[in-house]
This record gives sequence, structure tokens and C-alpha cells, in this order.
Amino acid sequence: MKTFCGVLLCYQLVIASVLALDQVLLVEEWLQWKNQHKKGYRTKGEERKRHSVWLANREFVSSHNSEWEEHGYSLSLNQFADLTDEEYTGLLVGHSYPDYEDNPLVTKFRSGRDLTSHDLPNSIDWRTKGVVTSIKNQNSRQCNSSYAFAAVGSVEGAWALTRGSLTRLSEQNIIDCSVPYGNMGCRGGSVFSSYLYMVNSGVSTYSCYPYRGRQSYCSYTSNCTCAKMSGMVRIEFGNETDLQAALATVGPVAVTIDGSSKAFRFYSQGVFDWSGCSSTKLNHPLLLIGYGYTYVESVYTEYWLLKNSFGTNWGEDGYFRLVRNQFNQCGIASDALFPTL
Ligand SMILES: *[C@@H]1O[C@H](CO)[C@@H](O)[C@H](O)[C@H]1NC(C)=O
Ligand SMILES: *[C@@H]1O[C@H](CO)[C@@H](O)[C@H](O)[C@H]1NC(C)=O
Ligand SMILES: *[C@@H]1O[C@H](CO)[C@@H](O)[C@H](O)[C@H]1NC(C)=O
Repeated sequence: MKTFCGVLLCYQLVIASVLALDQVLLVEEWLQWKNQHKKGYRTKGEERKRHSVWLANREFVSSHNSEWEEHGYSLSLNQFADLTDEEYTGLLVGHSYPDYEDNPLVTKFRSGRDLTSHDLPNSIDWRTKGVVTSIKNQNSRQCNSSYAFAAVGSVEGAWALTRGSLTRLSEQNIIDCSVPYGNMGCRGGSVFSSYLYMVNSGVSTYSCYPYRGRQSYCSYTSNCTCAKMSGMVRIEFGNETDLQAALATVGPVAVTIDGSSKAFRFYSQGVFDWSGCSSTKLNHPLLLIGYGYTYVESVYTEYWLLKNSFGTNWGEDGYFRLVRNQFNQCGIASDALFPTL
């Protein structure tokens, strides 16, 4: 070999073929990913653009995962892997803090005299009590509706706890009909505005008013009304002890967090902990359904357990664990509400 091409050239040939093999594997992985997430692109140019966005996201995910023990959670190339950061954050909802003080429908949560976290159970998982419906997919390429999923999920929980049986309720009802209360259909909204609507009109069962993932005219009929609300209770801003008490003594709670980070977007499993998350700039409502702790290699970590609306391919089969009692991380207790029926 040496006599023909010299050491340097041989070296280059070897590198080139290794790179080529890498490229082939990458293309294979891209095709697999597209197939798994049922992605198709209209033009060659669009496909090229998406592929390069995907490659950059793939780089982010694998570099995070190569040191995942440091982070305590891992990431995966889920359905959002072909979106730019701007496209992804465009799928979240805006948020502004409602004026709770002057609203007669809102009361502030009181955990009771001298209640501390030591008086509360070490862990709670409302799924085991049969008051949480299965994971749904808001299909956020088309509809920024996480607010409706969080609000409806909390009413499903409260309704199941009073009725003793779980009924799936309608997010589409909220998307189509709550616009006069401050929501914007598929362009975002809040748990608070959804609650105002449900105090006034109640909410349909899911079977009567199934999800379409597009805003449409309000086709609500009163014979389908299921749960009606009487008001809402809010958690004091940032108070994770109150939030824990509400969750332990009342039921699931609707929260709004900062879900704009790449780490949240690609979250796969473990206890999410990223101090760069904002506690005040909120943009993604979810349903808080429990809390607990892990104890691994002498490290004790407390977490919140949440139900997201990104389908079962995201996170832990659609669920999310977020570090708890870590300075109100991601704003978990910044705007937390639960319904009263
Ligand atoms: C989602 O909301 C953002 C603004 O928050 C908007 O730019 C975007 O167009 C919305 N998406 C859809 C599908 O309406
Ligand atoms: C409610 O009423 C609508 C029309 O008024 C009807 O189409 C629908 O079947 C009714 N649903 C139930 C559950 O009775
Ligand atoms: C949270 O609320 C409890 C009362 O429920 C209070 O004792 C505690 O000081 C509050 N914590 C903070 C950080 O404000």
C-alpha cells in the first residue's frame, strides 16, 4: 500500500470512508425518524432544510445524553426534532398573570394551620386513584391548545373525585367556545380563561365534542354538558409547600411553566433539572398529578409529576418529572390553579 499512495494519502482514504459510513448511518437514522413520526415534506428544498435542522438538534441531544448522568435526565429526538427553536416556541402559548385579587370567583389556597411538608405524604400519584385520563396529543403543529388540556384535565380530576367515576371531557369545547373569555382558540390561551368559561357554561363530554385540533365554530349543546365549575382556587405565587398540600389534599392542579427550553422540548426520561428555566416567564400549561422522590446512589431528589399533552412519544410515555423544591423551578408554583365544582 505504502508504495502506491504513501502514509498520508492512505490515512485520508480511511478517514473518507469512515465519514462516508457515518453519512450513510445518519441518512438511515433520518429516514427512520421521518418514518416513525410520519413526516413528509413537499419539496426537495424543504426536505434539505428539515434535515439540516434535524442534524443540529441531533447534535444537541447526543451531546446532552453523552453526559446525562450529570444532568439526571436524558433527551430524545421526538416529533419536534425537525423544528427550529423559533418554530417550537411558536407552538407554546403566551401568558400573563390574571388579576386574581379582585375576582370574586378566585380564592387563595390555605393549607390549614401549621401544615408543613412533614405532615404530607412522601409521594402522591393521582393516576393510581383513577382520576387521570390517558395521555393526549394536542398535535401542536396545528394547535397551541395546551391550556385547554391542562384546564380540562384538572376538571376531569375534580369531577371524578366527586362522582367516583372518570369521564373524559372536551378540550375542543374550550378551544371553540371560550374566545369571549380571553382565549384565542388554536393561537393560545390560559387555564384561568378556560375556568371562567367552565364556571359560566360547564364543559361537554369528550364523546359529544371530540378533538379536531383546529379552531371551529362553537358547536356546544347543553344536553352534553357534564361538569360545571363554581370557582377556582389559586396557589400563592411560588409556594411549593402550598402546592404540595393542595395536590395531597385536593387533587390534580393545573400549572403553567416555562417550556421553551430545548431540554424540555426533547425531554425523554429522568428528573428534569435546568436552572436556566424561568420561574416567571411562563408559556406552557400542564396538569400536575403527583409528586415523589428518587434515591439513587445516596442522592435524594424530589420531583413533581406532570401530565403533558404532547402524546406518548414525548417524555416518560407522555409524562414529565420536574425537580421539586428547587426554587420554584420553571415556575411550577407561579400560576397554579385548581377548580371547585
Ligand atoms: C401559536 O401561537 C403563536 C403565538 O403565540 C402564533 O405565532 C402561531 O401562529 C400559533 N400557531 C397556530 C397554529 O395558530
Ligand atoms: C344532544 O343534542 C344534539 C342536537 O340537539 C344531538 O345531536 C345529540 O345526539 C344529543 N346528545 C346527547 C348525548 O343526547
Ligand atoms: C408557603 O405557605 C405557607 C402557608 O401555607 C407558609 O407557612 C410558608 O411560609 C410559605 N412559604 C413561602 C416560601 O412563602
